Amino acid sequence: GGENVASLKRQLGQLFEVSIRAVVPDELNVEPVVVPSAGKFGDYQCNNAMDIWSKIKGKGTEFKNPNSVGQAIMGNLPKSEIIESCTVAGPGFVNIVLSKNWMAKSLQKMLIDGIETWAPQLQVRRAVVDFSSPNIAKEMHVGHLRSTIIGDTLARMLEFSKVEVLRRNHVGDWGTQFGMLIQYLFEKFPNVDDVNEMEIGDLQEFYKQSKKRFDEDPAFKERAQAAVVSLQGGTPKYREAWLQICEVSRREFQMVYERLGTHLEEKGESFYNPYIPAVLEKLTDQGLIVESEGARVIHLEGFNIPLIVVKSNGSYNYASTDLAALWYRLNEEKAEWIIYVTDVGQQQHFNMFFKAATLAGWLPVDGSYPKVSHVGFGLVLGEDGKRFRTRSSDVVRLVDLLDEAKSRSKTSLVERGKSEDWTEEELEQTAVAVGYGAVKYADLKNNRLTNYTFDFNQMLNDKGNTAVYLLYMHARICSIIRKSGKDIDELKKTGEIVLGHAGERELALHLLKFSETVEEACTNLLPSVLCEYLYNLSEIYSGKFYSNCQVIGSAEEPSRLLLCEATGVVMRKCFHLLGIEAVYKM
Ligand code: ARG
Repeated sequence: GGENVASLKRQLGQLFEVSIRAVVPDELNVEPVVVPSAGKFGDYQCNNAMDIWSKIKGKGTEFKNPNSVGQAIMGNLPKSEIIESCTVAGPGFVNIVLSKNWMAKSLQKMLIDGIETWAPQLQVRRAVVDFSSPNIAKEMHVGHLRSTIIGDTLARMLEFSKVEVLRRNHVGDWGTQFGMLIQYLFEKFPNVDDVNEMEIGDLQEFYKQSKKRFDEDPAFKERAQAAVVSLQGGTPKYREAWLQICEVSRREFQMVYERLGTHLEEKGESFYNPYIPAVLEKLTDQGLIVESEGARVIHLEGFNIPLIVVKSNGSYNYASTDLAALWYRLNEEKAEWIIYVTDVGQQQHFNMFFKAATLAGWLPVDGSYPKVSHVGFGLVLGEDGKRFRTRSSDVVRLVDLLDEAKSRSKTSLVERGKSEDWTEEELEQTAVAVGYGAVKYADLKNNRLTNYTFDFNQMLNDKGNTAVYLLYMHARICSIIRKSGKDIDELKKTGEIVLGHAGERELALHLLKFSETVEEACTNLLPSVLCEYLYNLSEIYSGKFYSNCQVIGSAEEPSRLLLCEATGVVMRKCFHLLGIEAVYKM
């Protein structure tokens, strides 16, 4: 039965499924469509009648019109404590009014059993989220920051939904540039241990210098190409130098991950390199890979260029690595859903190698599992509307950017007089939560495909749709509960939620939509869906509930405190899923 289904929408769907089965023959294969309705006629609506009518009319049916189909759907609904009443409108829309009693009981149950009982149930058991993925020795730029923030949230939402997530950092740690880097390193620092002392800034500078040398000095270029061969052949000295270069970059990446509170497991391009030959051989045997102008390529219908998998000089590239990585993830790691988070600029690359994998029979053509998804995102713009850069240099050092968010948020907390009654530690912790939270939320709240403007003033504004406002609302809720002096854990067991006022009911309904919202955000890979939910929750809490329903000192205090607590619990879970640390006073 529907007992362990968390999503309200799905629970209603199950009821309508039963009733639709009773109304129309199974072979029509009608999937119940139940959607939340904003109107005053109900909380949800079942919209199947018109579609059913179009399938049965003129075929000797006893129904007269879509409305009568709707009536029959309503009439055959199994008894359920979820539904208070139903009505049929117009062309058979079945409007559903939820039972206040059931709503109240469900909230109370969640408070006692925990919000984990509201985790959505997905079809997937294991997924790869390939995110962040910066390139060794090159700049980790704001694009990688977006990928890290979005990827971490997707991973968190899937993990909450009991999916085992392999968080993969597909770092660019392989390729011909390493020959150039290593050769330059040997020539510049004859004692290789010196590379440990280099800062990433130096490593980037170092990259530029070595590239310049490579482009200008043919003799060096030759030595660099020989170095690639030595590295790929596994010559210890070259391997050692490569490892050290990677380590320097890794330390810088790690500083960003620590600030963002994300963790990733690095399986860089080099990891998949040994798998490439066999994978390409299989594809060649299948007749997919062909020779073209000295290169080896896969021709794909619908694309005006072929997918190059071996360059004319015989070396592998981004696509060959990605094919091998996909093969590994499907066959060795048995992932059912592989999700790639990069800027939309790489969309064509992904579409092409996804198509190649489908042609090879690795992925089903109908889009069922195992499945791959490219999560593309837009550019980060500066306040001038151009590609984001810091004032001082053309390279944004991500660590500095995050530190600035923190120090700005600290300044504004001090300006609001918080340093007077807070300890330095509290001030620091709140500044961290607000500062980093603001950067993340400003990114996540947008539809990820659009470009967004990086603007400290906007993201740190305490009004409007910002993390600052949301964290503040949460802190206020906590303060109301504290001020009541009640033991909230005790109250969860002894108190009872009663949804008397329309504002209370509206708040409860929104809370009950948490599970289906997370489910939607997961299936559509859209963190913005959860942000919108959180912002609306906050607005409903303050505008509909709190402004109309006195909590402390009212006759309804116990019930209303429980509603405050339920709101707090859901907000905290939203923060957690968005990678934002909650604060309890502000
Ligand atoms: N390193 C790439 C970049 O910086 C991103 C890698 C994304 N993942 C992948 N499997 N292609 O653009």
